[in-house]
Amino acid sequence: TTVEWEAASYDMGGHDTYMHKEIHEQADAVDRVLRGRIDDRFSTVHLGGLNLDAREARRIRRVKILGCGTSYHAGMIGAQMIEQLARIPADAEPASEFRYRNAVVDPDTLYVAVSQSGETYDVLAAVQELKRKGARVLGVVNVVGSAIAREADGGIYVHAGPEVCVVSTKCFTNTTVAFALLALHLGRTRDLSVRDGKRIIEGLRKLPAQIAEIMEREDDVKKLALQFAEARSMLFIGRVRGYPVAREASLKLKEISYIHAEAYPASELKHGPLALIEPALPTVAIVPDDDLLEKNRAAMEEIKARSGRILAVAHQPQEKADETIVVPKNEDELDPILMGIPLQLLAYHTALALGRDIDKPRNLAKSVTVE
Ligand code: AGP
Repeated sequence: TTVEWEAASYDMGGHDTYMHKEIHEQADAVDRVLRGRIDDRFSTVHLGGLNLDAREARRIRRVKILGCGTSYHAGMIGAQMIEQLARIPADAEPASEFRYRNAVVDPDTLYVAVSQSGETYDVLAAVQELKRKGARVLGVVNVVGSAIAREADGGIYVHAGPEVCVVSTKCFTNTTVAFALLALHLGRTRDLSVRDGKRIIEGLRKLPAQIAEIMEREDDVKKLALQFAEARSMLFIGRVRGYPVAREASLKLKEISYIHAEAYPASELKHGPLALIEPALPTVAIVPDDDLLEKNRAAMEEIKARSGRILAVAHQPQEKADETIVVPKNEDELDPILMGIPLQLLAYHTALALGRDIDKPRNLAKSVTVE
């Protein structure tokens, strides 16, 4: 029953914090967002609540994703997945900025509002403004029956289960998986081949076991965290798929440890941030084993040449880095879902070493229902 489900969800289950519990729930949570949605016969997915038939899906000429904070970062990953798999131009923008720039609302654009709580005021107001102008808006939301879910024309529930910690972890991961499902669905109404559809489905099915594998390395990440707890500031870099991962990891670290952190596309280093590099400023580099691997290695070399310390998150140990956290490889398009997970653990153990109030960081609320 609902009552039992809720009581079980709010139990700490032997963990010291909700954040730790929620990080460890991710393999099961991802299993839930996938459950009942995969259609092997047509190498696609069924998203019952989308309210978008194939003809309408084909008419979409652009996708605009709106969210705040972590949900905005999940939307950045989603936009790249949609562009890669469905070849529809897509981008993400903070909902609050979108609202105030009197954006041109186009009838052939699909708008997607992303929110864990479904109650974030800036996102809700953007949805209402879009609907007032006749746009079609989908919601990618965790809390069933929330304001944004009710206001949207349709959408995808991310089924992460209740998230109690103020900072989002499992919901971020499930939202990126929900976007992979949307991208696959849109792709298969267009030019994504059966073969590529199958490839993505196989990749999605591997995720829960790969997340469990990442959790097994927690002790190694904890040791690294003890070193980073001394840093006053940290830099996070990544390129294309790695960049939103870097942004989210940087946000997570600052939210709970209060260490200053900044995320940059690795390609922008030489346009300014290289000036900051010195031994006291550690860099976390997101280095997927994809077509940008050599470029990422070159960026790490630039940092090493200036005596910077590097922690890489990669699919194989990185020579240029001082330390590497190795993450299991999935399909290129799905790699960002996994690469940030060890960095949730890094932020967690750094904050723990500093004695922070992890579930309730200062100055923050779980859902921001005012402007
Ligand atoms: C997450 O760690 C943050 N506390 C915050 O950025 C959050 O993602 C943002 O406020 C949006 O919340 P929502 O997903 O409930 O809309």
